[in-house]
Amino acid sequence: MKSYPLHSSEKERDRLKMQALAILPLTRTMLAGAGVKPGSRVLELGCASGDMTLFLASLVGPSGEVIAVDRDPDQLDAAALRTSDAGFCNVNFVLADLDDFEPARTFDAVVGRYFLLYVASPEAAVARVARWVKPGGTMAFLEMDFFRGVHSSIWPPASPQTHEAIVFIGDVMLDAGINPHMAARLPSILTRYGNVQVQTSAPPQYGARSIELPLEAVRSVTPTARKLGRADADLHDVDALLIRELEGRDEHTVTVPPMSVAAWVQLA
Ligand SMILES: C[S@@+](CC[C@H](N)C(=O)[O-])C[C@H]1O[C@@H](n2cnc3c(N)ncnc32)[C@H](O)[C@@H]1O
Repeated sequence: MKSYPLHSSEKERDRLKMQALAILPLTRTMLAGAGVKPGSRVLELGCASGDMTLFLASLVGPSGEVIAVDRDPDQLDAAALRTSDAGFCNVNFVLADLDDFEPARTFDAVVGRYFLLYVASPEAAVARVARWVKPGGTMAFLEMDFFRGVHSSIWPPASPQTHEAIVFIGDVMLDAGINPHMAARLPSILTRYGNVQVQTSAPPQYGARSIELPLEAVRSVTPTARKLGRADADLHDVDALLIRELEGRDEHTVTVPPMSVAAWVQLA
């Protein structure tokens, strides 16, 4: 299956916002390491609803430029609205599949966050985009290992039903041809381009509502599970699970998101 397995919807966009907050520190470290600064010209792959795009737009400033590519028109519309609402004039969105995209110019940095896990051959994709980086420019990606942390990461522990629902996300992703172990593969892919810098982090989220991030991902993969004809597609009632999980939880709840890895490399 080639389409994005996390159904494009308002709820999914809200989940992406929660996710973006959780990984902001790692994103910041990666983009600083990759040399993204005022005046940089950056290509972002798989921008979705624009969470990293907004951050990039603020980093490169009015003298820089961000070209943000995604193949999902609904996500791109949402991203375009958010960037114009935020007053940025330095972002151009391109509706395209990476396979069909060919930029007219080169970039100081090519970046992507939670993008390569959806690509059939990440090695081939990286080799292709490396040609679009200026000499001395950088490539930077942030990816996750879905099975590191997500299953046992909630304290106090989630109910068995919530636990099962979260396991279901990984199963659907595997079924849909998504690589849930992209985090470890990423540095290995970049080593052929130079001296790779790597930073890992899974910062915890605090408070009862932190459990919404994994549970909303269950909702987002459900349409894909249906398309795949999975018998368990409608087994998990996210609203009921949320109500049950939020009852009795307090500010001492901790949710550790799946391990993420950021890696960047400067090209000769
Ligand atoms: C998890 S989302 C990315 C989240 C976003 N980068 C962020 O950090 O908030 C993955 C995005 O990649 C896009 N995508 C996946 N494969 C693609 C491809 N081959 N070409 C273009 N976009 C692609 C999907 O449409 C989806 O919006």
